Amino acid sequence: MTQTLLVTGASGQLGRGVINHLLDTFKVPAGRIIATTRNPENLAELAARGVITRAADFDDTLSLEAAFKGADRVLIISTGEIDLLHGKRLRQHQNAVAAAKKAGVSHLLYTSMPNPEPVSPVLFANDHYGTEQAIKASGIPYTIFRNGWYQENLFLSLPHAIASGKWYTSAGDGRMAHGARDDMAAAIAAGLVAASSESETYTLTGPQAYTTAEIAALVSEVTGKPLDVVQVPDEALTEGVKAAGVPEDFARIIVSFDANTRSGRIAMVTDAVETLSGRKSKTLKQFLEANKAALAG
Ligand SMILES: NC(=O)c1ccc[n+]([C@@H]2O[C@H](COP(=O)([O-])OP(=O)(O)OC[C@H]3O[C@@H](n4cnc5c(N)ncnc54)[C@H](OP(=O)(O)O)[C@@H]3O)[C@@H](O)[C@H]2O)c1
Repeated sequence: MTQTLLVTGASGQLGRGVINHLLDTFKVPAGRIIATTRNPENLAELAARGVITRAADFDDTLSLEAAFKGADRVLIISTGEIDLLHGKRLRQHQNAVAAAKKAGVSHLLYTSMPNPEPVSPVLFANDHYGTEQAIKASGIPYTIFRNGWYQENLFLSLPHAIASGKWYTSAGDGRMAHGARDDMAAAIAAGLVAASSESETYTLTGPQAYTTAEIAALVSEVTGKPLDVVQVPDEALTEGVKAAGVPEDFARIIVSFDANTRSGRIAMVTDAVETLSGRKSKTLKQFLEANKAALAG
């Protein structure tokens, strides 16, 4: 019998992608998919396709337990509620793991980040590391997807950099293999439909790792606009990001990404996206070409 698959964060960009792949790529019957959100009206389109939609709030364990009832395989998509002082997101994820245990879920899947161990320079890494630990302690068989950074994240930095011709960074010669969010969604959907009950951890990346200077050269080639990389210390970058109007906590998080890149902790390239999804990964050049107008104005 087909298993019942549940996706949290179903209204988000990754969650929608995963559910679309379940329906359209893997032909999972809509009635075997449960999509959760805090506001089910956000999922009216999916409900119209026959997907079961349920309300679940990561701050409310009872709502999670009720939502997870009858689900065999549950994908917990990390929430976006980063809170450096109080660890709110880790508590939310721990609530979801505890609810999955109570609901008798047979397999738990989670979207983590590469190398989240406590030495990570990424300021929110502990949300992911702590969640991985909670999943392992629950005794439920699991699949952890350590998602590398999305190509789409470049929308946050590149438009301003291209407009000014200068890309300020503290990433040094560190490399990173940005991957397409939809490629990761396809790989995660494949993990959800898999019959396997083995516990596995996959690191999902794009197909090639580049330094910031190499990305800038690719951007110039695609857009025809010059882009100089300016290496600055973390402190100067933090001040620059704050001066651009970004709140202090978020500025510190952004700079911690560069420190992480510089440390080499996100330089890996894996073939997990292609192996799991069975399709070719989108290259960074393809992403830049497809989004040239939006990135370069
Ligand atoms: N690897 C990367 O480069 C990268 C980049 C950005 C984000 N991320 C991580 O990946 C996650 C998914 O990315 P995305 O682009 O799909 O994010 P998104 O579009 O912002 O969606 C986040 C989802 O989290 C749900 N959520 C937030 N707080 C919740 C709560 N208290 N209870 C229940 N649901 C809650 C939201 O659901 P409702 O509002 O419908 O309840 C929403 O569907 C993010 O949340 C973030 O942790 C990774």
